[in-house]
Amino acid sequence: EIMPSLVGSEMCIRDSINNVFWRLTMYPEDLMEKVLFTEEDIQKRTLELAKEISQDYKEKEIVLLCTLKGAILFFSDLVKKLDVDNTFEFIRASSYIGKTTDTSGNVRITNATSLDIKNKDVLIVEDIVDTGLTCVRLTEYLLANGAKSVEICTLLDKPSRRVYKDLKPKYVAFKVPDCFILGYGLDYDEKYRDIPKIGVINPKYIK
Ligand code: IMP
Repeated sequence: EIMPSLVGSEMCIRDSINNVFWRLTMYPEDLMEKVLFTEEDIQKRTLELAKEISQDYKEKEIVLLCTLKGAILFFSDLVKKLDVDNTFEFIRASSYIGKTTDTSGNVRITNATSLDIKNKDVLIVEDIVDTGLTCVRLTEYLLANGAKSVEICTLLDKPSRRVYKDLKPKYVAFKVPDCFILGYGLDYDEKYRDIPKIGVINPKYIK
């Protein structure tokens, strides 16, 4: 039996056979011009990366540094698949302001947690590496604050826009073309982070 119901303020479909609620998103169907990666693609690739990281950091203790807010979904899926001793830290590093889809050139770093990284091997978990500015500044900041090593694990890599050519993220889930991407943590004007897949924004929704 499938019937619409309201859970909180959201419309859901109640599947009473399996006793679950399926969420109906209120986003327009054509919000994504193109879906690049489905939930299944993301989980499969995340597992491959987790195996690689677990192998590389075997017998080390790794600090997993989640960059807020964009990497939060990727971070939470990745860490569950890792098989290595670890601790979590969170940091906010933002180079985008408001509605613009261009990088501003400045990176503001704010600590969400007081970082415990001295003499530790840090793995930055990023949503997307675009010009590379954020990761370059963040790496400098972590090394200046005593990290023993810093590597980058990014969900998406947009190499065509790279300004910092020497920056090579060690772990990349997917390469993407020079388009504005959203979903699975990535926002446009702080929205759409909750969409479980990754796609290209339809230009008609860019204000
Ligand atoms: P970078 O400093 O130019 O490498 O940009 C990194 C940051 O810009 C990411 O952490 C994102 O927050 C944001 N960003 C870059 N490209 C996109 C995109 O296509 N969609 C959403 N955010 C993006």
